[in-house]
Order: sequence, then C-alpha cells, then structure tokens
Amino acid sequence: MITPEYFYNKLKIINPGACIHNYTLSKCEEFVPVINRINELKKKKNAVILAHSYVNPEIVYGVADFVGDSYGLSKDAKKTDADIIIFAAVKFMAETAKILNPGKEVLVPSQYNGCSLADSITRDDVITLRKQYPEYSFICYINTNADVKAECDICVTSSNVYNVIENCPSDKIYFLPDRLMGLNIIEEMKRRGICKDIKLWTGKCYVHEEYKHEMIYQLKFQFDNLKVLAHPECSPEVLHQSDFTGSTSDLLKYMETASDGNAYLMLTECGITSRLQVEMPEKKIVGSCTLCKYMRSNTLDDILRVLENPEDNDRIILNEDISLKALTCVEAMFKYAEK
Ligand code: 13P
Ligand code: SF4
Repeated sequence: MITPEYFYNKLKIINPGACIHNYTLSKCEEFVPVINRINELKKKKNAVILAHSYVNPEIVYGVADFVGDSYGLSKDAKKTDADIIIFAAVKFMAETAKILNPGKEVLVPSQYNGCSLADSITRDDVITLRKQYPEYSFICYINTNADVKAECDICVTSSNVYNVIENCPSDKIYFLPDRLMGLNIIEEMKRRGICKDIKLWTGKCYVHEEYKHEMIYQLKFQFDNLKVLAHPECSPEVLHQSDFTGSTSDLLKYMETASDGNAYLMLTECGITSRLQVEMPEKKIVGSCTLCKYMRSNTLDDILRVLENPEDNDRIILNEDISLKALTCVEAMFKYAEK
C-alpha cells in the first residue's frame, strides 16, 4: 500500500514545462486510492500492466509492472505468465502484445489510442506498394497497425532499426511509415558503409517533427555545455545537431552515466523528462518537451475500469490470419535484432 504523502514526495519534482504535470499533495490524495485498488485487483486477477515511458507519471510510478520502450515492452509481453495484459500506451503496442500472446486477454485503457505514424498507412496502401515494388523487402516500424504488419516482412523499433536493416539479407528495402526515421536510416547506412536501395513512405510523428535545428542553435548559445539527445523520429537536421540518438530507453540509459556538469536537452516526448526528474534529479534538463495526446489519454480511472469490467472495445481482438502473418513479421525483428 502506498500513501499520498509518499507519492507526493516522489513526484513533486516533476515539472517538464507543462503545468498539467505538476503534482500536489491533493492530486496525490486523489490518485492513491485508485492506485491501491488497481494493485490489489492486479494480484487477484493475475494481471500485469505494461506502460510506455510516455504515459502519465501516476501510471508509471503507481501501477506499472514494466515500463520501457516499444522493444523492451514487446520482450516483456513475450515472457509474461500473467493471464491479462493491460497495455498503457497506444493501440499498436497492445496489438503487438496480442500478436505475441494470442491466448491472453490484452486490454487497452486509452480512450484516444491512435498514433500519427500508425494512422498514416493502411493495409491496402501496402498491398498497392508491394505490387509497385515486387522486388523490395517491406520493413515496417513497430508504429503500424497489425494488418499493416501482416503485409510486411520485418518489423523494427527505434532501438534496433539500424541493426535490423543492416543485418537483413535484402538490399532493396521499402521502409514505412516514418519518413524522417527513413532518412536517418539512409544516412546511418552510408556511415556504416552499407549500400542498400531504400524507398520511403510519407508518415511523420507529430510530436518529433516539431523539433527544429534552429531551436537547438539558440539553446547551444545560451548553454555552452549543452548536450542534445534526440529520438530517431526527429529529422536528420536535428540529429546532426545531437550528441546522442536512441530509443526512449536508450536515452535514459545514456543519462545514467552522463556527467552532472552538463545541461541536457531531451528531444522527445515529456515522459522522458519526467522520468529523469524523478530517477536522476541531479541531472540538469533545459528546454521544453512535447506531449503525445495519444499516450496521455491513458488514465488511472480507465485502467481500473478495464480491470474491473472490460468491455469489447477495451479488448484487442485480431483476425487469426492477420495475427499469424503479423507474428512472422515481429519474429523476424527478434531474429535480425539479436543477430
Ligand atoms: P520507443 O520505442 O523509442 O519508445 O518509441 C516509441 C514511440 O512511439 C516514440 O514516439
Ligand atoms: Fe505515435 Fe509520435 Fe505519439 Fe510516438 S509520440 S505514439 S510516434 S504520435
């Protein structure tokens, strides 16, 4: 059992520049009874809660059993022995958990569970592209819906994308849906001396496309010891100005050993800044971050609701054929990522 005072002391430091995420004792007094009820029910029902680092801190620190990036969470989903998986993130991540655990109940508590990348491409788009580019291997970012994965050959996440593209045998690749990540892949392959013909779709993440290299120049002017960390969904111009690029978990890992003497700019969703403020309060974070409306639509109340009384639209239900085809695509990622 946790108390409101304990929770408030842990989260009061969070201030990523967006006042909606300031934690007061009275806010924690509201959260804690719901948190304790969820944790009690989780045990009773043998449920596990997987949460992406971008969801609200009261979920990350109150009820989540595993917190991580898309790759880490898909590995957690693969090995869990819980009967019920509640995925506090976005729908495509919960679908990946279902693809890996077709026999388990996978519940999604978010009300608004799209993603600007996943929503940028449909299964029919991929079928048309495959006819247009029959000799290409289709590699999709994990930020795609299950029926799109089902039409692709290999899936990648931000933590393994460069290695999977390098390791896969094909030298003609159609990468979808993230155009900015695709441009970063083309640059990274050149840097590695790998020659592959890579075609791209047009999707973008509305959170990461907002970061501009001009903004980095301004902050570098203000803080001469500034280190910039960026997610690979940012543009190549932003990555050129960055000291480190990686998945959300890679960014946190980098910060574990980063010097306390520098200032850090985190070019990703605010969840990473909040985690740093709670877990590494000695690190100086400057600049502001951006919120993802999809990730932020997960709430404690909805987690409790789906745990107590799930309805059909809270459940991930996949057509068996799509699920099996998408599994081949996800399994290919594990094969080439770990090579
Ligand atoms: P990560 O896999 O790096 O957590 O990225 C997921 C995502 O949606 C980033 O916007
Ligand atoms: Fe999708 Fe961007 Fe939100 Fe990640 S941050 S879930 S890519 S919209």
